[in-house]
Amino acid sequence: MSGDRQATTGVLDGPPVVRTVEGVRAAIAAWRHAGETVALIPTMGYLHDGHLALVARGRALCRRTVASLFVNPIQFGPTEDLECYPRDEAGDRAKLQAAGCDLLYAPGAGEMYPPGFATAVTVSGVTEGLCGAARPQMFGGVATVVTKLLLQTLPDVAVFGEKDYQQLLVIRRFVRDLDIPVRIEGAPTVREADGLALSSRNSYLTAAERAQAPALFRTLGWAADRLHQGAEAGPVLAEAVGRVLAAGFAKLDYLDFRDAGTLVPLDRACRPGRLLAAAWLGRARLIDNVPVSPENRSAA
Ligand code: PAJ
Repeated sequence: MSGDRQATTGVLDGPPVVRTVEGVRAAIAAWRHAGETVALIPTMGYLHDGHLALVARGRALCRRTVASLFVNPIQFGPTEDLECYPRDEAGDRAKLQAAGCDLLYAPGAGEMYPPGFATAVTVSGVTEGLCGAARPQMFGGVATVVTKLLLQTLPDVAVFGEKDYQQLLVIRRFVRDLDIPVRIEGAPTVREADGLALSSRNSYLTAAERAQAPALFRTLGWAADRLHQGAEAGPVLAEAVGRVLAAGFAKLDYLDFRDAGTLVPLDRACRPGRLLAAAWLGRARLIDNVPVSPENRSAA
């Protein structure tokens, strides 16, 4: 009886949790044995509807979904927010349960990086500039942990958000370069009603800053319209920076117009591009990006 009760409680609390490489491999092996396909959704937790949209995409593509929750220390710089990064594993489990996720893989740092760990995955080209310039350790840390997560779980599909657009391109690059047999699926950015991209770091915003925050997306939308009208990128980007600062942001790490596939700078909307920005509002570093396609260019 008490076993039944525990099982029921477990269902209400969330999907089963495994914390070891051995545990996650055993769970996935059982699904494989039954002929089931598997989608992995890597996260650092403090889940919001953007993360849960990735779970939904995984469920649409595969029979089983596993979410990982690991606040990856090696992708944070020494002065960054690792210590205060928001965490709520119980809340995350409940949200994953409601989203229909089958398994939570939440390893500790010692499981991911045991003593003697000495390997790194380094990606050149697409990691340079933008977030790679502002946060030099980040993409090496992301590439290393995502490589490990993919090899630990060997999913059919792994789902990532376009919200972190440069990260998505970095992951596509090393997956191709290292012949990791997984399909990388990108999912569109989920936003609040006022346009602010959902982010775990939005919890750092005060009420006043939260009211100012949508200006970043609004400005990217304005700049995309100008580029669609055929404007040159230089003056558009300069005015966009002024608008973001005027809205109350303290500084920008970058606001730039890049090729959507390679991230090389573009002068105008002559081929598929992306407007990308990172800007500071109080304690929060907000990033966002929007597509700019030549097909949307007006006749003018
Ligand atoms: P995290 O910031 O938790 O994001 C996990 C995944 O959710 C990423 O693929 C991210 O792009 C996606 N995501 C975040 N906000 C989103 C939104 N508003 N709409 C859609 N998708 C969104 O990104 C990381 O963690 C880490 O770098 C990780 C890949 C897990 C490696 O440690």
